[in-house]
Amino acid sequence: MSESVAFAATDKAARYRELLPQLASLVEGEPDLVANLANISAALRECLPVASWVGFYVMRGGELVLGPFQGKVACVRIAMGRGVCGTAAAERRTLVVPDVEQFPGHIACDAGSRSEVVVPIVHGDRVVGVLDVDSYELAAFDATDAEYLGEVARLCSGFAW
Ligand code: SME
Repeated sequence: MSESVAFAATDKAARYRELLPQLASLVEGEPDLVANLANISAALRECLPVASWVGFYVMRGGELVLGPFQGKVACVRIAMGRGVCGTAAAERRTLVVPDVEQFPGHIACDAGSRSEVVVPIVHGDRVVGVLDVDSYELAAFDATDAEYLGEVARLCSGFAW
């Protein structure tokens, strides 16, 4: 297992392409969910300098509960259908929110957050969690992020949720 991540590219898509095999290597042979989500949060934060917060919410008893993350302290529990995270989980689709103030019901864990992308993580027929990335910049995320973070979510879906 490699114990660090490194990026040579400056272009966002190229950095994601460098990231994905490094993530696969980081989690290879490790069955522990918390350890894997923690390292993936850290690696993603290094890959995405625009991100102010990167982390996971894990489905527990029908609601989303804060999991491993990198960034400031965050809201602990989010009901299905609430906020960007709960909406992405309930609708099982990736949400790219260029301006969080325009998203009805957005949950402001950090008042400085301006844009966000949330990707549901689906294992079999269950939503087991979400991957959430926030930024202090407006419109920090786009279809490229949705595509590659979707790949990260697919990698995570194989973990022991
Ligand atoms: N903004 C999210 C809540 C999670 S924090 O951003 C870490 C939401 O509206 O679901």
